[in-house]
Amino acid sequence: MRAEWWKRLTPDQSQKLRELLAERYSDELHDVALVERAAEQLPYEHLRRVLRRIAARERQHAEWLRAKIRELGGTPPPPPELPEAPTWQEVLEAFESEKADQVEYLETAYGVRDPEVRELLERIQREEEENYRDLLEVVTRMESHTGRA
Ligand SMILES: [Fe+2]
Ligand SMILES: [Fe+2]
Repeated sequence: MRAEWWKRLTPDQSQKLRELLAERYSDELHDVALVERAAEQLPYEHLRRVLRRIAARERQHAEWLRAKIRELGGTPPPPPELPEAPTWQEVLEAFESEKADQVEYLETAYGVRDPEVRELLERIQREEEENYRDLLEVVTRMESHTGRA
């Protein structure tokens, strides 16, 4: 059953909300693929585990978003394409984008009136903070292992 708030949205507003969620969904799947591939290449077991933990969180986020898009009558977009193996540079970019993710989620949550969607976005945002901390650990340790910046 659709919630009351949903019925009050104009078709334009509900379309916009689905698009927002779809955008976040694609971003999460992109991060899953990137971090998993980066983990495959990493010669350090401990850091591989940290990356896989991040990937698991991102996968869960994508799953939550997918369910919400469906619930709102939308169709989740197909998974984004990624180059074969991520470079270290891309991992660093992913790290940077985690900060952007948090801002994006906070701002989106702020603009959403529906309490359920807002709660979902805020929950994801809090977990992006954990991703950021985990990635910081990976980046710092990689730099000390390899001297790469
Ligand atoms: Fe995420
Ligand atoms: Fe993220």
